[in-house]
Amino acid sequence: MRKEIESIKTNNTEQLTLKNLEALPMNRRSVILNKEKFIQTLVEISMLQDLTSLKSRIIVLKDIITNHKNDKEGISNIDVNGDTVSLRRDVLISELNQILESQTLERAKYYLKRLKNGVQKVKTSKVNDINLSRWKEYDEIITDSLWILDKRDTSGAHLGWYWGNFIPQIPHQMMLRYTKKGDWFIDTFLGSGTTLIECKRLGRNGIGIELNQEVAQK
Ligand SMILES: C[S@@+](CC[C@H](N)C(=O)[O-])C[C@H]1O[C@@H](n2cnc3c(N)ncnc32)[C@H](O)[C@@H]1O
Repeated sequence: MRKEIESIKTNNTEQLTLKNLEALPMNRRSVILNKEKFIQTLVEISMLQDLTSLKSRIIVLKDIITNHKNDKEGISNIDVNGDTVSLRRDVLISELNQILESQTLERAKYYLKRLKNGVQKVKTSKVNDINLSRWKEYDEIITDSLWILDKRDTSGAHLGWYWGNFIPQIPHQMMLRYTKKGDWFIDTFLGSGTTLIECKRLGRNGIGIELNQEVAQK
């Protein structure tokens, strides 16, 4: 940890970021934190008036997130009735690194505020359940073209027996973007029922229409 603080003093923050990300043993797993304590810590840090002290506190925070045994602040203490927040460890670490790379106090505070809002506020829209405050954590949403997927999803009930069936990822992505849990989804050309399988998986209600009786009954 002292090495990291030295790096900051020599203004070598970029190397520090890469090194730490690579060193992380549980890069993509979630971390569960005491929400109230975590927010309180972020507020305290954002009240600091010099960049070096602020970064030193962020390094301590990062150390806690990387290894709970280093937690002297109680951020990872989960009490039974307390409110918790589950965050993707790699995203959280990268947000802390962004703060560490800030060149000015204002910029560092801006990133801190954004992190605090992301933890505190759930920002959804009318059309889906995506929390826009934590959009970086949604691995599942494919933003590239659905035409360039490596392979179709053949897991679970998707057997792929029907000649004209969907790539399951298509209804899956549609539902994530344009529906909320419990919404109704209709597929008027149901075929083998790919859409209904995805409805079931994502907690949506599904209804389908299929002209070909043989296919419908299969
Ligand atoms: C391309 S397939 C759909 C496959 C489906 N997405 C799947 O993953 O299995 C189109 C289906 O629409 C059905 N179909 C065609 N005209 C229809 C109509 N007027 N009403 C209901 N189904 C129809 C066909 O029988 C065919 O099974």
